[in-house]
Amino acid sequence: MKKYESIMLNKEESQHLYIQLYKSIKDMILLGQLLGEERLPPVRKMAELLSVNSVTVVKAYQLLEQEGLVYKRIGSGTFISSAIIRQAQLPTDVDTTAQQEDLLNQGHIRLERNMINFASATPSADLFPVEDFKQVINEVLDRDKGNAFTYQESQGYYPLRCILKEYTANHGIKADVENIQIISGAQQGIDIIAKAFLNYGDYVIMESPSYTGAIAAFQTRGARIIDIPLEENGMDLAMLETKIKNHQPKLLYIMPNFQNPTGVSYSAEKKQRIMEICKKYKVYIIEDDYLSDLSFYSKDNSTLKSIDNMDQVIYIKSFSKIFMPGLRLGFLVIPKQIYNNLLVAKHTSDISTSGLIQRAFQLYLSKGIWRRHLAYIEASYKERFDKMVECIERYIPSDVHYHLPKGGLNFWFKLPKNISVKALNEAALRENIAIAPGYLFFLNNNQANYFRLSIASLKTYEIQQGMKKLAEIIKGLQLNKDLQDSRENTLNPIL
Ligand SMILES: Cc1ncc(COP(=O)(O)O)c(C=O)c1O
Repeated sequence: MKKYESIMLNKEESQHLYIQLYKSIKDMILLGQLLGEERLPPVRKMAELLSVNSVTVVKAYQLLEQEGLVYKRIGSGTFISSAIIRQAQLPTDVDTTAQQEDLLNQGHIRLERNMINFASATPSADLFPVEDFKQVINEVLDRDKGNAFTYQESQGYYPLRCILKEYTANHGIKADVENIQIISGAQQGIDIIAKAFLNYGDYVIMESPSYTGAIAAFQTRGARIIDIPLEENGMDLAMLETKIKNHQPKLLYIMPNFQNPTGVSYSAEKKQRIMEICKKYKVYIIEDDYLSDLSFYSKDNSTLKSIDNMDQVIYIKSFSKIFMPGLRLGFLVIPKQIYNNLLVAKHTSDISTSGLIQRAFQLYLSKGIWRRHLAYIEASYKERFDKMVECIERYIPSDVHYHLPKGGLNFWFKLPKNISVKALNEAALRENIAIAPGYLFFLNNNQANYFRLSIASLKTYEIQQGMKKLAEIIKGLQLNKDLQDSRENTLNPIL
């Protein structure tokens, strides 16, 4: 019975107690704390131990049985199924670790079997609304036949733009159908803006650290990037104004909500001030809204575009995190005076975004199915987010700095000075855990002790297991360093 004493059920939570209990036991099974053929405590004993009603335990055991995690033997009780695939700790050899590091430096991760992947902020495929999409694609094919496969107009499928106008209006953004441009993902949005605006040597201002895909898009246009440090509530605005005054940048690229990689959100005052500064110096702002929908505890996840009364924000919306990245679909809301430049840039990039996908997505939105999916995905991510916060507070050593975000999928950490993220990364890879080293997100790759953990593709039990292990690794590295330091400071006789 002892191992069940660690189960914590919270009667204040909105989630039913039997679901909490089911999840706790499931985690214990998947983490290998309960072994195949082990008997679960009898219902009455478990109920007494946890001070809950027997029905709660019965229902939890039923859910576990439905998932095949346990089975009943008549007259003997409930047993853990031995056929379960647990999170085995596969040893990884040195070569694999080195190759993984090389790949990471190029912005990729090769997923090993059972790897706990904190590195990529890509949602897991189990969250995708595949059946709903199958249905709308079939409907589009029956309805539009070959037309679904002709070139779509570069600006985007008109009915989709109409429905996106409503979508943006629900988020406080006033857009005209004419000013909405469909894009093949937010990355393309950044790229075509760079193409339309930037000449070799032009200045662009970004946050530091920032999204690697944007840094690369601006650099490939030969832009000179000025990076401005992020504070806990957004960019350092005094520095922003000075840099704008001195360099007259063409663009300012920012993520005001749940910034990637830091998770930082701008305060309402900073959002307002940025608008004022950019108005004063006539700088266009690119607002990359890749995630403002996933606001779990924030009171203000409003977009800059919603307070843009001068039409100076180029708003980019990605659907990759809340729907499916493989759709390659997003949209821009573009200030009127620059609309044509961007349309030309889009046309010369890929002529148009897939007509079939646009039509299917339009149907998906117009049927309202997306609301159900959004509620589901929000709940799933929130569960992961809460588990992450719990694990950070429980396991992460006190000399590792972090600022908890109020939503989104990314968590940002700063190691103590004497531990390098390179050492942490190597040690983590050896334990089959992937993290995103922070230097990837800085312009000069020179920040040695930050890292980002993303929860997008992890189940709660993987978060639990991964965070516990990572904390042990950090403590181990710290201990090694302390030992080394103490050796360096002692005088040893040379014998
Ligand atoms: C901040 C940010 N912008 C844009 C993108 C690219 O999104 P998409 O898949 O829509 O191209 C990403 C992807 O992770 C991102 O993190």
